[in-house]
Amino acid sequence: MTAPNFSRADSTPQTSGAELTGGDFKLTDHTGKIVTLKSYSGKYLIVFFGFTHCPGVCPLGLRTIMGSLNLLGNLANEIQPIFISVDPARDTQEVLAKYVKSFGPLLVGLRGSEKELAEVVGRYRAYYQKLSVPKDQPKESYLMDHSPIIYLMSKSGTYMSYFSSNEGAKAISEKIKLTIKAQ
Ligand code: NI
Repeated sequence: MTAPNFSRADSTPQTSGAELTGGDFKLTDHTGKIVTLKSYSGKYLIVFFGFTHCPGVCPLGLRTIMGSLNLLGNLANEIQPIFISVDPARDTQEVLAKYVKSFGPLLVGLRGSEKELAEVVGRYRAYYQKLSVPKDQPKESYLMDHSPIIYLMSKSGTYMSYFSSNEGAKAISEKIKLTIKAQ
C-alpha cells in the first residue's frame, strides 16, 4: 500500500511507505480534553483537516464523511471521525464544539497551538495556508487553503487509504468496507 504525498492537492502521488503518513499527535478536543493518538485506540480514524469558516469544502467533506458512516451500520461503531482545525485563531474550543455538533454527536473536533498544528499537519503530509484578504475587506474575514483529503487510518494510527469528498458517501462507505476487510 502506498501513501500519496498530500503536501499539494494536485501533486503526483509518491510511492513512499505508508508508515510515513500519520502517527501520534497531541491536540485538544472540542470539550477541552487533551488527546493523543492513544485516546482513540481500538478505533479506525477518519481524519479531515479544515476550518469552521470554510464556505464549501469543509461542510461538504464533513457531510460526506458522516453520510458514509451512516451507511456502514455496525462497522461505524469502530470508526472515529475527527476534524482537525487548521485555523486555531478563530476556531476556539467553543466555536469548534458548536460546529462539530452540527454534524451529529459522533464527530470530534481537535485544535492545537500553531506548533502542535504544524506537527500533526506535517505527520499527515497535509498542508494549510492563510490566504490574503482583499484590501476593502475586514482582516478577520480571511480564508484558509487546506488539504481536501479524507484519511482512513488503522486502529494503531497508521495510514490505510484516502478519499476525496467528491466521491460521495456511498462510494466512500464501500471503499472503507473493502479497505478494512482487506487488511
Ligand atoms: Ni475547508
